[in-house]
Amino acid sequence: MNLKSGLKIFLIIFLFLLILFSIYIYLNLEKMGKVDQQISGETKIFLPKEFIKGELSVFDSIKTRRSVRDYAKEPLSLRELSTLLFATQGITSGYKRAAPSAGALYPIETYLAVNNVEGLAKGLYHYLSQEHSLVIVKPGDFSREIRKYCLDQDPLENAAVNFIWSAVFERTTKKYEERGLRYIFMEAGHISQNLYLQANSMGLGVVAIGAFDDEKINQLLDIDSEKESVIYINSVGRK
Ligand SMILES: Cc1cc2nc3c(=O)[nH]c(=O)nc-3n(C[C@H](O)[C@H](O)[C@H](O)COP(=O)(O)O)c2cc1C
Repeated sequence: MNLKSGLKIFLIIFLFLLILFSIYIYLNLEKMGKVDQQISGETKIFLPKEFIKGELSVFDSIKTRRSVRDYAKEPLSLRELSTLLFATQGITSGYKRAAPSAGALYPIETYLAVNNVEGLAKGLYHYLSQEHSLVIVKPGDFSREIRKYCLDQDPLENAAVNFIWSAVFERTTKKYEERGLRYIFMEAGHISQNLYLQANSMGLGVVAIGAFDDEKINQLLDIDSEKESVIYINSVGRK
């Protein structure tokens, strides 16, 4: 074997390994927490990373937390919203997020219905954990519609922002099968509790909302309900 053919064989093996490595990376993108970044060509709003630590210890926040359904007219600041997004689904280390997730598969997506946040136009947004950014889904005031789709409950219309969590079920059920469904709903509870406790420590109010019309909210968010569905909503506002 001369030098030329040796080099050829080396190149072929190198290319083959490169292709195998690329396939491996592609197949594992979801595991690596990149799934909610696949939107391209959209205008992104990169959120401030100067987070607010809050005034209360974890214990005091647990002790004083209550569901709050009446909100003041004053808006939330972008820094407050950014902190709440980080505390619920922000990336805290590598691809791992603030709230635990079975198998670190992160089936839950965060959408926001923004009504009254400084520096953010009213509208529906999708949060991208990896970049700590928001992508607009639909601009406009959807507060009345959301209230209607949540059994006409006041907090939805008066909140500064509604957190709407959906689940892409297959991310978890492909590993854990039917039991994965339980895990997804457990995870939603973790996320909401983080929101309650962080918001309370910042002097903000939250109420969990379980009563809503899934299909109407899915349609509003342009979610493909074959694969993904809203599972939980929390309203947030200034007390
Ligand atoms: C899964 C779940 C769904 C809920 N759904 C609603 C709801 O649709 N509307 C509402 O006003 N409160 C809702 N709540 C809030 C409860 O009413 C509230 O947590 C309960 O009254 C206890 O009060 P506390 O949160 O102040 O301790 C829900 C709470 C949970 C955990």
